Amino acid sequence: MMMSRLKEVTRPHHEAVEETLGRFKLTSSLDGYRRVLRRFHAVHLTAESAFQRLDGWDAIGIDPAERRKLPLLEADLRALGDDEAVAAPSAEAPLPPLTDLPRALGAMYVLEGSTLGGRYITKSVGASLGLTPGRGCSYFASYGDRVGPMWRSFGAAVDAFATTEEVRGAIADSADATFRAIDAWFSRDEPGPR
Ligand code: HEM
Repeated sequence: MMMSRLKEVTRPHHEAVEETLGRFKLTSSLDGYRRVLRRFHAVHLTAESAFQRLDGWDAIGIDPAERRKLPLLEADLRALGDDEAVAAPSAEAPLPPLTDLPRALGAMYVLEGSTLGGRYITKSVGASLGLTPGRGCSYFASYGDRVGPMWRSFGAAVDAFATTEEVRGAIADSADATFRAIDAWFSRDEPGPR
């Protein structure tokens, strides 16, 4: 199955990105948390505009509009007093080319998967920084109690779509490249491009 293959091939990248994010001390420092949000904002600016440009979502049973995270990121940044990051984002994060559905699905796997870890971050920053899904932590809370169902419906659509080895390879390569790009983007030294 495609989804278990993706989990397998990207496991080392997940560990790397978890460690990279940890350096921001996002669960114990409001400043670090805000810097992480700004970087995710740049990632989603790039990814969501690429998803929007593609046709064919209906046929595979995924609605990228329903999975948008930009409004959540922008609400959180505003709630934390960072209106400037929303009004004048200084960069879009460099991601691999997301110019067809297999490549888009590889990137979407990485971003949708991050909602799973988001549940733990939500709990943690609620306890340490006092942020809630209604104030400052709507991005990590994402779909709330629908995280599980949204992840399973995404997985079912990917598994149904990935019927050839050519498509499976393209999705896996894109997930791999997206994880690498996100890790590199978060690893850029501060002060950097946001
Ligand atoms: C401190 C940061 C993070 C923590 C603590 C974390 C934690 C987790 C945990 C516990 C899971 C498994 C959840 C479950 O099976 O119920 C998970 C899954 C996942 N996370 Fe993260 N995560 C973090 C950051 C990220 C980031 C930044 C990304 C990508 C941008 C990411 C992508 C994924 C993906 C794709 C999965 C799904 C793996 C699969 O089952 O196929 N995570 N994460």
